[in-house]
Amino acid sequence: MTQTIPRNAACRAPETVLDLSPDARRLSGRVALVTGGARGAGRAHARLLAARGAAVAIVDLDDAVAQETAAEIERSGGRAIAFAADITQRPLAERVIHDVAECLGGLDIVVHNAGMMYSLTGLEATDDADFDRLLSINVHAPLFLTRAALPYLRKSRAPRVIFINSQWGQVPDGHSYGYMVGKAAQLGLMKTMAKEFVSEGILVNAVTPGAILTRMVPDAYIAGEQKAIPLGRLAHPEEIASTVGFLASDEAAFIAGQSIPVNGGALVVGI
Ligand SMILES: NC(=O)c1ccc[n+]([C@@H]2O[C@H](COP(=O)([O-])OP(=O)(O)OC[C@H]3O[C@@H](n4cnc5c(N)ncnc54)[C@H](O)[C@@H]3O)[C@@H](O)[C@H]2O)c1
Repeated sequence: MTQTIPRNAACRAPETVLDLSPDARRLSGRVALVTGGARGAGRAHARLLAARGAAVAIVDLDDAVAQETAAEIERSGGRAIAFAADITQRPLAERVIHDVAECLGGLDIVVHNAGMMYSLTGLEATDDADFDRLLSINVHAPLFLTRAALPYLRKSRAPRVIFINSQWGQVPDGHSYGYMVGKAAQLGLMKTMAKEFVSEGILVNAVTPGAILTRMVPDAYIAGEQKAIPLGRLAHPEEIASTVGFLASDEAAFIAGQSIPVNGGALVVGI
């Protein structure tokens, strides 16, 4: 005999059902900002978001390369503009948010990707100015940008804030105090923001990549990095961008305050 379990209204899932069609990945009608989007991983995020239909703004210190990346996206049928600014300077960061929203008609997705090279000096040789710069780009810049973006995110149908963090934000390795501490603090910032804004539907998450094939990993380090990655190779920037695309999409509508590792199996005990 089958038994019918009475359904308690309080336990029922909301009426909206997740769209599982390929359209759920589309970002048409949304506006995305990618910091450090001129090159490396940021360029891959910008290209992927544009390919999925978002209008993309790139902000980078390097104007010429940022303009070239935006032009490349436009040539392949996407919509992109580029701004040159140092986003660690609060007035410039606020200006960028205002200009992006003005030029592209709003702001739905912010990808905090910009980052800086670092040296593995150890504590005694840590340069104070270098330490400050790494904290500025990893913590202050995303704080300035997200705060300025809130009025626009609140108007968005699917607002997202996505941090490109690092596996070293969770497990420090090497001895770059600025980078390790900056990325660890950035994860704290991500979780604090996620907790404050999730009830408004603003979803804040991070991707924590392992080594990626960009200029941040000099050729001399590639062989050593490869040995530490169970998959036996570094990530291509697009392999990080695909997770950014997922977190930006409707498919990730129930994910908040999480950090998603994309690291070829690194940090798994026992591999
Ligand atoms: N490459 C890796 O192995 C690796 C691994 C894990 C995480 N990450 C993270 O991924 C992100 C992208 O790194 P990448 O490897 O593509 O680096 P990259 O050096 O290739 O690109 C970083 C971009 O950020 C821009 N930028 C730096 N400071 C800026 C500022 N103050 N204002 C505006 N733009 C600024 C740079 O001009 C550059 O175009 C970083 O946050 C990095 O920490 C990289």
